[in-house]
Amino acid sequence: MFTRTLITFAILALSATAQGPPAGAPAPAFRRPPAFPERPPADPVVVERGKALYGVHCAFCHGVDARGGSGGINLIRAAMVLNDKNGELIGQAVREGRSGMPKFDLNDAQVSDMAAFIHSFKVGGYDVSRMTPTTIVTGDAKLGAAYFEKTCSGCHSVSGAQKGSLQGIAARIADPKMLQQTWLMPGTGGRGGAASRVTPTTVTVTQGGKVYDGRLGRIDDFFVSLIEADGTQRSFTRDGDNPKVELHDPLAGHRKLLPAYSDDDIHNLTAYLVTVK
Ligand code: HEC
Ligand code: HEC
Repeated sequence: MFTRTLITFAILALSATAQGPPAGAPAPAFRRPPAFPERPPADPVVVERGKALYGVHCAFCHGVDARGGSGGINLIRAAMVLNDKNGELIGQAVREGRSGMPKFDLNDAQVSDMAAFIHSFKVGGYDVSRMTPTTIVTGDAKLGAAYFEKTCSGCHSVSGAQKGSLQGIAARIADPKMLQQTWLMPGTGGRGGAASRVTPTTVTVTQGGKVYDGRLGRIDDFFVSLIEADGTQRSFTRDGDNPKVELHDPLAGHRKLLPAYSDDDIHNLTAYLVTVK
């Protein structure tokens, strides 16, 4: 803060006294100094090796592009990384662990390879030269909208309060990865799953002329259990069609669709849904 104020004063003082360039002279090339020292490019082979190690051990928490993933922090702007040269500081964190980060048993060469990979990102912004997507949102939202219309609009809309409306879904599930997991299979996706509202599967069991209805407990070929609306638990042994068992799985439509999506469909649809705020 203090140094920045000083610098601001210095710049103000300079611009107050500096004379403009004489008319007709080419404007001086002005290059903003980088906020952090730029590093010479590392050997691509080393970076590739580091990327592979990083992908296995670190990407899960720090994101594929080191800008922070689920639960981890943005490494590119961490002081420890900015001050690191060849892994000597990064290695310290890796070997000691941190709160929320386990220790890793990696040798010096592995750590310096990983450091080369982490340092290969530009500090200031998105590094286009690497063509690494910042998030998983790489699809085409327009194509996603068309796919939604064709495949999902029979059961869903993106506005309104009626049943099946996905209005606000991207605000409720802000992490695109969770959002993708949620639309692929509602009710799954770890922590994101909790944010997804899914009506539980119910079951109707007919035995000796009596009908039992409730939330499905457990089911296999020989057993079925259910919980009735008042909390009563009932279980039945199954022998073929006796008793008669009818499952009502609200997500049957989703299960059927799952094998039908192509990778492009998935990327496009996620790109579209992140806009449904
Ligand atoms: C399970 C999640 C997880 C994994 C896996 C993980 N980290 Fe971390 N890492 C974290 C968290 C959380 C922090 C922040 C810790 C803190 O604030 O004290 C962190 C912090 C760091 C820091 C900064 C430490 C500091 O003191 O500023 C570095 C460097 C780092 N991690 C590197 C790595 C590398 C390299 C790998 C792979 C070998 C890795 N991490 C794997 C969760 C993880
Ligand atoms: C056959 C009907 C049907 C189709 C087709 C269908 N869904 Fe669903 N979807 C459901 C039902 C039912 C639920 C669960 C809602 C509930 O239980 O109240 C659901 C849940 C969801 C959820 C979670 C909603 C929330 O609030 O957490 C998302 C997101 C979703 N669907 C997206 C999609 C997308 C995207 C498609 C198209 C690829 C699609 N669905 C196709 C019936 C369908």
